[in-house]
Amino acid sequence: MSDKVVLAYSGGLDTSVAIRWLKERYDLDVIALNVDVGNERDFSAVRQKALDIGAVKALVTDAKELFVNYFVFPALQADALYEGQYPLATALARPLMAKLLVDTALEEGASAVAHGCTGKGNDQVRFEVSISALAPSLKIIAPAREWGMTREESINYAQRYGIPVPATAASPYSIDENLWGRSIECGVLEDPWVEPPEEVFAWTNSPGDAPNVPGYVEIGFEQGIPVTIDGQEMDGVSLIQRVNELAGKHGVGRIDLLENRLVGIKSREIYEAPAATVLLQAHQALEAMTLSKNQLRFKQKVAVECADLIYNGLWFSSLHQDLAAYIKSSQRYVTGTVRLKLFKGGCQVVGRKSPKSLYSYGLATYDKGDEFDQSASPGFIHIWGLPLRTQAQVQPPTQDEGPLSIMAPKKTEEDN
Ligand code: ARG
Repeated sequence: MSDKVVLAYSGGLDTSVAIRWLKERYDLDVIALNVDVGNERDFSAVRQKALDIGAVKALVTDAKELFVNYFVFPALQADALYEGQYPLATALARPLMAKLLVDTALEEGASAVAHGCTGKGNDQVRFEVSISALAPSLKIIAPAREWGMTREESINYAQRYGIPVPATAASPYSIDENLWGRSIECGVLEDPWVEPPEEVFAWTNSPGDAPNVPGYVEIGFEQGIPVTIDGQEMDGVSLIQRVNELAGKHGVGRIDLLENRLVGIKSREIYEAPAATVLLQAHQALEAMTLSKNQLRFKQKVAVECADLIYNGLWFSSLHQDLAAYIKSSQRYVTGTVRLKLFKGGCQVVGRKSPKSLYSYGLATYDKGDEFDQSASPGFIHIWGLPLRTQAQVQPPTQDEGPLSIMAPKKTEEDN
């Protein structure tokens, strides 16, 4: 009996070819594992396809709930956006897939796991660092990185062995999608100057074709987790799906980013992430109301750290464990409702309320009912400004550049 390998199977060209290739090259029996993270697909057809190509077993796991509860919502609570823009959909799904690959390999007594990533991307790193953290002795095979076939050669290989070539193989684009977003690369997009053609988008209306009437949506949060839409309670998966539809209709969530890959390459990425865009904005607005200034300042640094480690494949690191504890603690009063306006590709927060709000009308108002003691301000300013006054006396500005020595133009008494 041959040894077994569990392959992360998408149903696409590369992982289909890999089923055959792993048998031929390594004499391994392939168990195909398809993980459903909300990438709309006909999963029974994907399963059957794996078996037809020669997998000894084909499994489909509905991992949508796991994905949302253990990966997406914690990333939302962290406000994780890579390089300030990318909500990390693909990067969040990889460690989950790695976990499910490892579990399946142990259950099935397989000695190896395999994935379909090439040698140029982030995903190979995320898979392999995660797998090795969870099961250091498991062998990892990356067929597409090893075989060095071009796209055309893969298609030829598929045709030679009667492997059905998906219609999408003819598309010049490389697409990955899950509940948290969709990414599109390759083809004309590789020229960073070229505007993405309309055909690359699948979840969002073109802002120009979006409804002429703005849409309003209210997102209710409980300790940093979205739990209601317009007052109606929803489980996480349905809530994200609903916001994706709603915001997508209004053309919200298109992102065009020239990003820094971990392997040193700059790459142009197009994303559609309607729900992520809306929910991250709403969450931040609620944090602005319920966290202190110092909590917010510190949390912004944690958010950058967290986004980087997720992007860089370090989900299962001790640093992440530690940061996650901080993030969870920071969310204990992030409860309330945020109102957003969606219109022609734009998404704006237009209202927020919380039972734990730190906003005080009495302190903020300029109308009657003002509770702020303005007579205390001169004393505050006296002490706040003390170091600057002291320094100005001892070290008057001498340099001819910089903010200390900015010169006003000479005034004259008469014009010319
Ligand atoms: N650039 C994004 C990331 O690294 C998206 C990658 C999409 N992956 C793919 N195999 N098409 O997270």
